[in-house]
Amino acid sequence: MLIDTHAHLSDDRYKDNLEEIIAEFKTNNLEKVINVGYDLFSSKIGIELTQKYDSVYASIGVHPSNASEYTLEVETFFKSVANSKKVVAVGEIGLDYYRSTEEKYLQKAVFIKQLELANECNLPVIIHIRDAYADALTILQEHKHLLNNSGVLHCYGGSLEYAKEVLKLGLYFGFDGPITFKNSNTAEKVLKHLPIDRILTETDSPYLTPHPYRGKLNEPKYVALVAKKMAEVFGVSVSEIIEITNKNAKNLFKKLSE
Ligand code: NI
Repeated sequence: MLIDTHAHLSDDRYKDNLEEIIAEFKTNNLEKVINVGYDLFSSKIGIELTQKYDSVYASIGVHPSNASEYTLEVETFFKSVANSKKVVAVGEIGLDYYRSTEEKYLQKAVFIKQLELANECNLPVIIHIRDAYADALTILQEHKHLLNNSGVLHCYGGSLEYAKEVLKLGLYFGFDGPITFKNSNTAEKVLKHLPIDRILTETDSPYLTPHPYRGKLNEPKYVALVAKKMAEVFGVSVSEIIEITNKNAKNLFKKLSE
């Protein structure tokens, strides 16, 4: 069965039908979904969802666009819940110079702080990078000692050369709807050349809806379309790619199989 390793079920746009969406996971061949936090509030909602629904897991973290919200109080809260059975990762954390809502120095400091948090709590990291590839790689290379529990570059949009550097750090790559877009080169130029045991399926719901539903609200069930495209790219069957990516997800997010 499929695993969506990156969704934002806490998003307001699901508030009227979230129960229905989650109830349909099994029918849609979805085994597990990781709700990824981007601030304190969304991280807390994620934890609540894990208590309510068997198939939902949580990642806790502060997105670079919210870097100034990463206070000692937030860190203390994260530390207090990191050992919970269904808190599987720290993220999404990273650098985002595109939205540039926060100063670069602050984003970098908060990114490093959360890499330290993940290492201390023995959790992998979910990394978001936008328009900040060079600085992010420098931070990751300089803090390799904090990556003992590995991590994923979520919604990977970098080059193959860059990916090779990231592979040296032992990290994974997450792919979403954009690999299904007709004008996307990522699938052919990058995904195809990556080791198949390093790729993860994700949706980033409610964003990045795959073809042919582009323009509509994304949902975890559409992770099937991402898997289908991956199968095409690697020349394997859909059931094989599901088996492989499911195993990859469980290798990275250890608590998914506990
Ligand atoms: Ni996201």
